[in-house]
Amino acid sequence: MTATLCTIEELAQTGSRGFRAGEGEWPLKGFLVLTDAGSVRAWLNVCPHAGHPLDLVPHRFLTSDRAYIQCSSHGALFERDSGRCIAGPCLGRNLRPLDIEVVAGEVRLASTVAEADNARRNMSGLTK
Ligand code: FES
Repeated sequence: MTATLCTIEELAQTGSRGFRAGEGEWPLKGFLVLTDAGSVRAWLNVCPHAGHPLDLVPHRFLTSDRAYIQCSSHGALFERDSGRCIAGPCLGRNLRPLDIEVVAGEVRLASTVAEADNARRNMSGLTK
């Protein structure tokens, strides 16, 4: 079963929104951002610099002008559309994308939580 993460209306209020999907002590943690074109991108909430979550304040992933994703730990800036770091200690590295779909105004994971979590583990080199 796929998970509904939020509505487009909720996302539009702040331009970004964190989510947790799955059960147990280690749910899949990601966040959503709106792009200039009005599409939605989803990223794993793990900074490529030091592995910290990007939001020290819940749901706050963007610069004050909403132009870039900003990691709260050491200030790395990422493009909203590509996830590429354009300034900071992980310059040139990328956030990890998650597949989503928008259906009837709701943002959902495009795969099951288990499938998305397996992709996360494979990307980060973690094993079960
Ligand atoms: S952990 Fe994100 S910039 Fe250092």
